[in-house]
Amino acid sequence: MFAKKETGATRILPTHVAVIMDGNGRWAKKRHLPRTAGHAAGSKNFKDITRYANKIGIKYFTVYAFSTENWKRPAEEVKNIMNILRDYLKDVDNFKDENISMQFIGDLTKLDDDIRELIANAEEKSKNATGMHLNIALNYGGRDEIVHAVKKIAEEKIPIEEIDEQTITDHLYTKGQPDPDFIIRPSGEYRLSNFLIWQSAYAEYWFSDILWPDFKPKHFEKALSSFAGRNRRFGGIK
Ligand code: IPE
Ligand code: IPE
Ligand code: MG
Repeated sequence: MFAKKETGATRILPTHVAVIMDGNGRWAKKRHLPRTAGHAAGSKNFKDITRYANKIGIKYFTVYAFSTENWKRPAEEVKNIMNILRDYLKDVDNFKDENISMQFIGDLTKLDDDIRELIANAEEKSKNATGMHLNIALNYGGRDEIVHAVKKIAEEKIPIEEIDEQTITDHLYTKGQPDPDFIIRPSGEYRLSNFLIWQSAYAEYWFSDILWPDFKPKHFEKALSSFAGRNRRFGGIK
């Protein structure tokens, strides 16, 4: 809280920030545009905010792009979202200078083959980047992730007495990463919608009515200032 805003000199930054990129549809509706226009604007904003997060020194950044429940939407909308993703992934060579390593979390087996290839290529090309680590949650569901982890644990025949919280943590898509410290949800909804439900046990939250395409660095800064002023006790006394 004593920090100088722009330099970030002394402020306490969360190591891992996660964002539920929600409100694209309502953003478009407000402008009498099709929902597709909202997703395009949301995608552009995702690129801007990701770049900004890396610039200010966030180490891990996770974005919720498509949930296991989003398949319920009309096929046309799903197709549009997947096409936006394709365009983003095809452009990946242009992000090299940003030094961001990219990882997709979720059940990728349900995606089209060409998207899976583009994802593998993006992960491979960015794997040695030393800047921020970006997780893109795609066909991601927190419950699905836990089921997936439990199945892997059973497959590995890990003895029951050896199974503890760390075992579950180590079998999630986010294995090896710190838990999110800070979860941001714009769009006026106050729920997790199945996002990082295991990892968020002690996360701090920031909610706002701003719709995702309107969520700018200044709003991000406001959220980060709020985080910096919080007292995290983790069940202890501080
Ligand atoms: C988030 O925006 C994008 C995805 C879920 C893929 P929405 O499309 O959910 O936007 P609203 O909530 O309808 O405004
Ligand atoms: C959460 O938003 C998923 C993503 C942002 C990708 P939704 O729009 O799907 O969430 P609900 O349906 O309002 O809970
Ligand atoms: Mg929504």
